[in-house]
Amino acid sequence: MTKPISEPAFIRANEPVGPGLYLMTLEASGIARSIEPGQFVHMRIPAMDDHILRRPFSIYGRSVENGLVEILYQVVGFGSEHMTALSASQSVELIGPIGRPWRPPAAASRTLLVAGGVGSAPLFLLAEKLIAEKREVDVVLGAQTAEALVSRSRYEALLQEPPRCSTDDGSFGFEGFCTPLVKKALVEAESEGRPYGYLAVCGPEPLMRLVANMAAEHDVPCEVSLERRMACGIGACLSCVVKTTSGLKRSCVDGPVFDAREVVW
Ligand SMILES: Cc1cc2nc3c(=O)[nH]c(=O)nc-3n(C[C@H](O)[C@H](O)[C@H](O)COP(=O)(O)OP(=O)(O)OC[C@H]3O[C@@H](n4cnc5c(N)ncnc54)[C@H](O)[C@@H]3O)c2cc1C
Ligand code: FES
Repeated sequence: MTKPISEPAFIRANEPVGPGLYLMTLEASGIARSIEPGQFVHMRIPAMDDHILRRPFSIYGRSVENGLVEILYQVVGFGSEHMTALSASQSVELIGPIGRPWRPPAAASRTLLVAGGVGSAPLFLLAEKLIAEKREVDVVLGAQTAEALVSRSRYEALLQEPPRCSTDDGSFGFEGFCTPLVKKALVEAESEGRPYGYLAVCGPEPLMRLVANMAAEHDVPCEVSLERRMACGIGACLSCVVKTTSGLKRSCVDGPVFDAREVVW
């Protein structure tokens, strides 16, 4: 893994793409070149003098040729609200790539990726990588509404087939949480005689816990990307610790991706 660098990143675009959801495109050629799927950047947001802490974000898309990275973010509080006011030509400072990436087993020829909400962001580079490695990739996306399923078309273009989708309000796809779709995919894969060799999940913690349990029931190796609150992002402050079967671990440097069997939920 490459050592994290600090990189000033010019904003190329910062547009609303769904309810409380924005897509920011940044010039950050060093990070675009070196980031591995599942790693993240720690962003210093300008004009937040009374809030000095950086905010962690996954890389949703990148173009190595153009030196660009994309962040799909949800407005949840002070920092993300501030980000919405940033415009092209302003810059932010990024430290990255940070953390442990996704590590699908080499033998996993069929894989299942499960995302709830903006959990779809850290899974997209993984989907690209798995497809480049000629592995089979199935995707389940869950969101509150059809408008919030903002990454659906991007996944569809990559997979060349629609991902399985659910919405809480039934406005697109299966009505309800996405967990029944995950169960169905696991059962179908088994009955086809081609079970999944790997499952990656990112989203709200209750979703990740349920999906990790399903993966364990079906004996499928599973990784989760935990979204702990972070302060330093370099393993020094212990604000992001996670309880695991081998003791407390720092989500920023020992994660954010963990083997699901290690996590004490
Ligand atoms: C490794 C990692 C990758 C992430 N990737 C993305 C991403 O791609 N897109 C995205 O939208 N968000 C992502 N997040 C979450 C994002 O960092 C937080 O939403 C952001 O820091 C909130 O900052 P704020 O100042 O807007 O909110 P604050 O004002 O600090 O907090 C507002 C609310 O958000 C909650 N919150 C704050 N930080 C987090 C967090 N880390 N996880 C969960 N809830 C939090 C708080 O408990 C509070 O309820 C990621 C988090 C981690 C740890
Ligand atoms: S954020 Fe400081 S140790 Fe992880």
